[in-house]
Amino acid sequence: MSKSYHIETYGCQMNVADSELVSAMLNDSGYKETDDINSADAIFVNTCAIREHAEDKVHSRLGFYHKIKMQKPSTIIGVLGCMAQNLKEDILESKPYVDIVLGPDSYRKLPEMLSDRAKIDTSHIVDTKLSRYEVYDNLFPSRKEGINAWVSIMRGCDKFCTFCIVPFTRGRERSRSIEGIINEVKIAVQNGFSEITLLGQNVNSYNFEGNKFHTLLSKVAEVKNVKRIRYTSPHPQDMSVEVLDVMKDYDNICNYVHLPLQAGNNNILKRMNRTYTRERFIELANLIRNKLPKVGISTDIIVGFPGENDFEFNETLQVMDEVKFDSAFTFKYSSRPGTKASGYKDHVSENEKQIRLEKVIDKQKTHTKARNENFINNIEEVLVEKDSKRSDKQWAGRTDSNKWVIFDKNTEKIGDFVPVRINSANGITLQGSIEKIYEMEFAT
Ligand code: SAH
Ligand code: SF4
Ligand code: F3S
Repeated sequence: MSKSYHIETYGCQMNVADSELVSAMLNDSGYKETDDINSADAIFVNTCAIREHAEDKVHSRLGFYHKIKMQKPSTIIGVLGCMAQNLKEDILESKPYVDIVLGPDSYRKLPEMLSDRAKIDTSHIVDTKLSRYEVYDNLFPSRKEGINAWVSIMRGCDKFCTFCIVPFTRGRERSRSIEGIINEVKIAVQNGFSEITLLGQNVNSYNFEGNKFHTLLSKVAEVKNVKRIRYTSPHPQDMSVEVLDVMKDYDNICNYVHLPLQAGNNNILKRMNRTYTRERFIELANLIRNKLPKVGISTDIIVGFPGENDFEFNETLQVMDEVKFDSAFTFKYSSRPGTKASGYKDHVSENEKQIRLEKVIDKQKTHTKARNENFINNIEEVLVEKDSKRSDKQWAGRTDSNKWVIFDKNTEKIGDFVPVRINSANGITLQGSIEKIYEMEFAT
């Protein structure tokens, strides 16, 4: 009987994509995935180290796996991903029940390690060597059914923002071949995925043998039957006019840009090593809006970076007012041991961080509302993605500018594009109804 495994994934989309690769390798070696964690022969957790909170969640899950292992000592427990890379000594010392610790560049070894382990009962298997080359180019991930296929195009990060652990957990930047990527996109489309999201820690610094991100993006857009293309996460420094021109030229590239601001004050940006100024950032956001009039722009903001004073924080609020992002992911600064900023003095108090976070969230709410209200009465092309959370009589789907729209079900099915008239904007979602008059036109 084949052995079974269960895998849980935390962190960013890169981890989701990596877990799909791990599943593919395990499936190919005769293991079977199970949703039932209690009966699994092996439990894997793909981990994230971006903030302390992310690590806490994994520690608590590991406690739970430990309980399962006490009931069933043959269970193998494996820690994969960014925390494995970052905290291997700590895990091995404090959690002796963990059998396998593998960093993000070592997944190819997993099937062999499992079979070796079945032969001889070694204590721990650890591999956290980062590679300058591994991009898993020839592997095809095992995707669950759905609308969107994550396609990893580059790995690692060389930017070394001073707050960030990623360059340490993911290693140096390296890009995958255009051929390998296009091949994977074609297969994903054949398998019924209508949306492709190109992934990388620094997706737009893609460079394969001199071919930059905009070249790759146009090649992906040319693949037959790719309905929607998204990409994440770009860095403002690498956001070129060429990328925006390609986005404008191809209808199937979504009108959506994630442009992480982090902070709106030049002194803080410098201390974060973000490589742009507030002026440059605002200019870039304006350029994006001019080139792509219907674009949705989202951002990431960190409050309470070490040394950030009230004046500097208020400059972040000002940039928000100037750009009026469609949405924002907001974070309290979390000190990551080993990063440059963790050694900076003047850490901001937890209380002050909380106050600043609430201010940023409140401001973003008003901007999201205003941006969304601009959509009222528009007829938007919405891709039907899933049942709405509130009611199985309603669908949830996204516009190409990445806004969620809720509307009553009719005869359409998941994966269809439908014209939806936007009736109201509530919180971060839009409410609409299928536009009958246009239905025929869209259907042809
Ligand atoms: N490569 C992506 C970032 C990935 S991490 C980029 O450059 O945009 C996602 C977000 O987490 C970052 O944009 C940042 O806002 C946040 N983040 C990273 N490190 C953090 C830390 N130490 N504390 C709080 N937020 C952090
Ligand atoms: Fe982290 Fe900066 Fe690299 Fe993004 S660009 S992954 S924030 S170091
Ligand atoms: Fe987390 Fe690693 Fe992604 S630290 S955000 S899982 S690259």
